[in-house]
Amino acid sequence: MAEAQFRTPKGTHDILPDDHTYMTYLKKAVRHRCRQAGFKRIETPIFEKKDIFERTIGEHTDIVEKELFLVKSHHNKNDDDDDFALRPEFTASICRSYIEHGMQQLPQPVELYAIGPCFRHDRPQKGRYRQFNQFSLEVIGLSDPSLDAQLIHMLNKIFEDVRIRDRLTMQINNVGTAENREEYTSALKDFFIGKERNLPELDRKRLKTNPLRLLDSKEEDTQILLKSAPTLDQFIGEESKEYHNILLEFLDELGAEYVQNPNLVRGLDYYNQTVFEYWDIETKGKNAVGGGGRYDPLMEMLGGQPTPGLGFAGGMERIIWQMKQAGVQAPNKDHVDVFVAQLGPDAKKMCLALISELRDKGVHTLGALGEASLKSQMRLADKFKARYSLILGQMEVKEGVIILRDMEAGKQKKIPFDKAVPEIIKLLGPDKLDTYTLRDHMGE
Ligand code: HAM
Repeated sequence: MAEAQFRTPKGTHDILPDDHTYMTYLKKAVRHRCRQAGFKRIETPIFEKKDIFERTIGEHTDIVEKELFLVKSHHNKNDDDDDFALRPEFTASICRSYIEHGMQQLPQPVELYAIGPCFRHDRPQKGRYRQFNQFSLEVIGLSDPSLDAQLIHMLNKIFEDVRIRDRLTMQINNVGTAENREEYTSALKDFFIGKERNLPELDRKRLKTNPLRLLDSKEEDTQILLKSAPTLDQFIGEESKEYHNILLEFLDELGAEYVQNPNLVRGLDYYNQTVFEYWDIETKGKNAVGGGGRYDPLMEMLGGQPTPGLGFAGGMERIIWQMKQAGVQAPNKDHVDVFVAQLGPDAKKMCLALISELRDKGVHTLGALGEASLKSQMRLADKFKARYSLILGQMEVKEGVIILRDMEAGKQKKIPFDKAVPEIIKLLGPDKLDTYTLRDHMGE
């Protein structure tokens, strides 16, 4: 095969048809559970003012500092106000939309979900892409531990639906209020005075810009030092502790398993109180399949009224990887019921109408309308694993018949041409027909 001249950009990938069956299966599971719980779908632009991400996710987070894809056009190259970025996630955009469209007027909480591509200029490696897909669920406008518990329960159901829940653990923590974290951050900074030299370079930088990130550092030296450092839970207020305990009680009530992880802080600045992540049992925090938490300060960061919020995003590529590891076969409806083969100009004309009629009746039909020999058309029918073939040669046209071949049994018979459609429908069984139409969808 010739070497391709063009390839996908680094960190991106084509989702080929085989992988799309997994994508579709996962999206269906998400949509199904969202519909059951009254979530409504929202779609926001793929790019937004970059300010939106800087203010909410945080200027000193990896996502904003290193990973934003900036969008420049010929028209905005001199104007900072018009700096755009590809969305690295959905939450900030959804909250922007909530404020912009006055959704505080709606009954609260407003429950929204989005599915689509996000962009982070990460160093590409296994499970880390520059374009990846997320599903994001957001519950905005009310704060109550029962909402946190319900969201987590719903996610458990989605992971059960795609049959990977038992490959994951759900790690949970409460990071308190912004004031709690400020006090803790300054205690942490004090603790490290004189010890900076013992920290790896990256963590020395983090200590200056975002000290909380030290807690989930993968560096062994940092983890050893942290053993004698003050811990976040010493700074969490009574109210947050109570919130957390009630949430855990609710999770117990729902039979939702969790692992309490006092070091879980998450890499985005907008969180307070509850944070949680789903980890692979073996690889743990590396390549989490999803994460979320409560983000009560976010609306104000965007200039809105104080409004509590809670949400979660799952990384679809990572979930699909888990499904494949678990040996899950994504069901698909791409099978071919009938392959129509023809020879000669009259047969071709008649087959065009026949193919169209079969498809309209819900029969998955392929037809080779090129000029190939009947033998090579039958080879194609085999390759597509067609259940039946309908074969129309010049002789059959003259006789007003068509050959119906059962591909599995290797048996064939001649039937009247105008009986071809009802005969196929009888053989397949009316309940096997794919008769979905747009009209069904509109409930007409
Ligand atoms: P996040 O933890 O930054 O949270 O991302 C959520 C998930 O997206 C990750 O757990 C991971 O599965 C996937 N993901 C992130 N970056 C990449 C990447 N470079 N390649 C592949 N997958 C990736 C958020 O985005 C928050 N908005 C979640 C949230 C919603 N919090 C509240 N509401």
